[in-house]
Amino acid sequence: MSKTRVGLLFGGRSGEHEVSIRSAQAIAKALKSDQNASKYELLPVYIRKDGVWQKGEIAQKILASGEPFYLPEEKTTSTDLVPSPSLLPDPTNFAEIEVWFPILHGPNGEDGTIQGLLTLMQVPFVGSGVLGSAVGMDKIAMKMIFSQAGLSQVKYKMVTRSQIWSNPCIFPKLCDEIEAELGYPCFVKPANLGSSVGISKVRSRSELETALDNAASYDRRIIVEAGVEARELECAVLGNDQPQASVVGEITFASDFYDYETKYTAGQADLFIPAKVSDNIANQVKEMAVKAFLAVDAAGLARVDFFYVEKTGEVLINEINTLPGFTATSMYPQLWAASGISFSELVDRLVQLALER
Ligand SMILES: Nc1ncnc2c1ncn2[C@@H]1O[C@H](COP(=O)(O)OP(=O)(O)O)[C@@H](O)[C@H]1O
Ligand SMILES: [Mg+2]
Repeated sequence: MSKTRVGLLFGGRSGEHEVSIRSAQAIAKALKSDQNASKYELLPVYIRKDGVWQKGEIAQKILASGEPFYLPEEKTTSTDLVPSPSLLPDPTNFAEIEVWFPILHGPNGEDGTIQGLLTLMQVPFVGSGVLGSAVGMDKIAMKMIFSQAGLSQVKYKMVTRSQIWSNPCIFPKLCDEIEAELGYPCFVKPANLGSSVGISKVRSRSELETALDNAASYDRRIIVEAGVEARELECAVLGNDQPQASVVGEITFASDFYDYETKYTAGQADLFIPAKVSDNIANQVKEMAVKAFLAVDAAGLARVDFFYVEKTGEVLINEINTLPGFTATSMYPQLWAASGISFSELVDRLVQLALER
């Protein structure tokens, strides 16, 4: 039997470039181990920070070293990150790839853009398609769909950059509305980022003003949410039309909230699998995770994150991540390991789910 050629697509034009390399290293290792070695041939494809696609030896080298490709100083200006047609890959360069495994986090990777390109290439790929990816990325669209699906969540308000940077100035009125509708503390977030970038927890009018201005510098769309005091639970989902939920995990940390530094500094956060919650709460989380997965039209994999307000017993959905961190120590593979599916089996299942679709 001939081996299936898997194009492992990693790196990418996002702030999560380095995490993507680490996820890809773990997946590459899994594709070459156990029974997978006889089933799959690995073809790594690296997307540089400037958007250039590289396969072959260069991609192999990045994967082996774990070090990103650094551009010469003068080429790292922000204008350089504007896509130019010449950066678009020529599909004929990748004709040998039978299934893509994109492991790109954040904007340009998890938001439907790469998924659109792979759809046009007419080659199956792991994970959600354009719709599920785009909806999962945009916190406003996601919350609207969750609400339509009857999933409980925090109160929120949509704000746009043009309202924040308005002329004539409606900014004070906007802040009045946020205070009246949501109160303090509240969270101000760019709608389309991830990794907690641009997110602020605010407790006063002046903090709110600064946070809105800051979030507007990242995105045209901003969401403001009522803050809750809650435990943070996460559930992994695997499958296509009949997705399964894993055991439930919990993240704990000492910082004020799960911010960028806490996420990416070793030892700042702890994972507990399974989470110490009642069966009733765990079942509620699993049921909501599957419902959320189906509501946004996710496929293959997703990690769904929750707030558990212990005082009231409420379980609120926070978000769905359609391409969750996939390093050896990430929550997603660890939740499956605790549910009886090893890392290499998980990678195999995901490729098979892509082919099946
Ligand atoms: N409404 C909220 N109430 C309480 N904590 C929140 C709220 N929204 C976000 N947080 C905190 O901020 C973190 C990051 O927010 P999240 O919406 O998950 O952004 P990201 O997509 O960047 O992970 C959460 O894990 C949580 O610690
Ligand atoms: Mg999050």
